[in-house]
Amino acid sequence: MIVLVGFMGAGKTTVGQLVADKLGVRFLDSDHVIEERTGRRIPDIFTAAGEPGFRELEHQVVAGLLAGSPAVLALGGGAAAYPATRSLLASAGTDVVFLRVGFSSALDRVGGDTGRPMLARPDIADVFAARQEIYSSVATLTVDTDGRSPEEAAADILALTRQ
Ligand code: S3P
Repeated sequence: MIVLVGFMGAGKTTVGQLVADKLGVRFLDSDHVIEERTGRRIPDIFTAAGEPGFRELEHQVVAGLLAGSPAVLALGGGAAAYPATRSLLASAGTDVVFLRVGFSSALDRVGGDTGRPMLARPDIADVFAARQEIYSSVATLTVDTDGRSPEEAAADILALTRQ
């Protein structure tokens, strides 16, 4: 199992898919699994249940995925900021890769996406700053993505994780 964490726009889905293809394992994205299981889009879940409700749901889904068969698993950008999910990662004994992106690159990639409700927060720069330490604290490996292609980031992950 390889878990990818990092801010929105870090490339978790693109890079994770490349790594999974190389390893011949499934690629899973916690947001997609949440949407499939609930039959609702992420922004609708935020509207109905608020961020706390979304985080609890995300926690349950991530717990189930971590206990499942080997995969490359991309987590939503806020998953590691939820203490219970962070504890799961700490005890999972798996490679956790922090895909690091600068704030302006992240906004260039995903800014204005209405499917990502956190981007509408006026304090999004503070959220970004606070999360950097959180991602580092759960990561067993940090891979930079600014100015690099998804293939380069994927190659780093393949070279530097245990698999
Ligand atoms: C979020 C990131 C999103 C998604 C939700 C909340 C966040 O995932 O889980 O919109 O809090 O940063 P991506 O990082 O895959 O965009």
